[in-house]
Amino acid sequence: MSKLPATLQQTISTRPILFVRGAIGHLLALLRSSYLRHRGAYASFGEAVAAVRPGALVGYDNDEVVMHSFEYMSELKLEDYPVMFWLDRLLPSVDVILDAGGHLGTKHRAFGRHLEVDRAINWTIYDLSAIVRVGRRFLEEGKLLGVSFIDDLSDAPDADVLLASGLLQYLDAPFDVFLKKLPALPRHLLINKIQTREGPTVVTLENFGCAEIPYQIRNRTEFVATLGELGYDIIDEWLIPSLSRTIQTHPHLGRSVSRGYYARLREI
Ligand SMILES: C[S@@+](CC[C@H](N)C(=O)[O-])C[C@H]1O[C@@H](n2cnc3c(N)ncnc32)[C@H](O)[C@@H]1O
Repeated sequence: MSKLPATLQQTISTRPILFVRGAIGHLLALLRSSYLRHRGAYASFGEAVAAVRPGALVGYDNDEVVMHSFEYMSELKLEDYPVMFWLDRLLPSVDVILDAGGHLGTKHRAFGRHLEVDRAINWTIYDLSAIVRVGRRFLEEGKLLGVSFIDDLSDAPDADVLLASGLLQYLDAPFDVFLKKLPALPRHLLINKIQTREGPTVVTLENFGCAEIPYQIRNRTEFVATLGELGYDIIDEWLIPSLSRTIQTHPHLGRSVSRGYYARLREI
């Protein structure tokens, strides 16, 4: 029999309640994984993808997943206010915003109620092909205004602001690799709803009904170090307690901490 991981052995002896909750989570996952919002804990995206339940779609890049939570994500949420605060300050000196993981313009719609996001700003949404196809169709049909779409980072404009709201859990590349694909590092980073933990980075699976989506909970220290190495200073950061998550099959890993950051590229 394979040896239990040290953290799990410790949990069994010191926190039996977490062990029992994890065992119930595993049982539910076996009986019907659609009962669980998050299941499994893997060391990489690849491992998480390999563990997707048979018959389920994998990830966001599927036509059936595109409209998932569209109206919900278009609402202005409490956790959007720090982003709006900084955008409001930056907008007068900003021409180009790259909204990575911007879906069908959900935050453009939400912020547009209070910010002049249409003022001669190039608001480019970078997203996966399935989303971008629908986004372009919505533009043609007049259902969306004031944004454009790309699904290839080599088409990305030289952006003043990179907005990454709700992207980083799903991004299947290290953040520095992603940023270095842009024509230039954006002067301002607005990152919201990034899931973090103090232990090693872990990838779980999020349940979308017809699909399971690999969902990354990053080691906070490493992420902050990456920003520093790229030349960014963190100007502001905030916590979003309502978006903290527990992996039901692995409660001993603890609750994630959802955060937001405003970071600015150091002047050379
Ligand atoms: C939870 S939604 C966030 C929507 C919106 N930005 C918000 O804050 O409500 C995550 C978005 O990230 C996109 N996404 C996932 N993986 C991606 C990738 N590798 N590159 C670009 N976008 C990705 C998804 O397609 C989806 O539109």
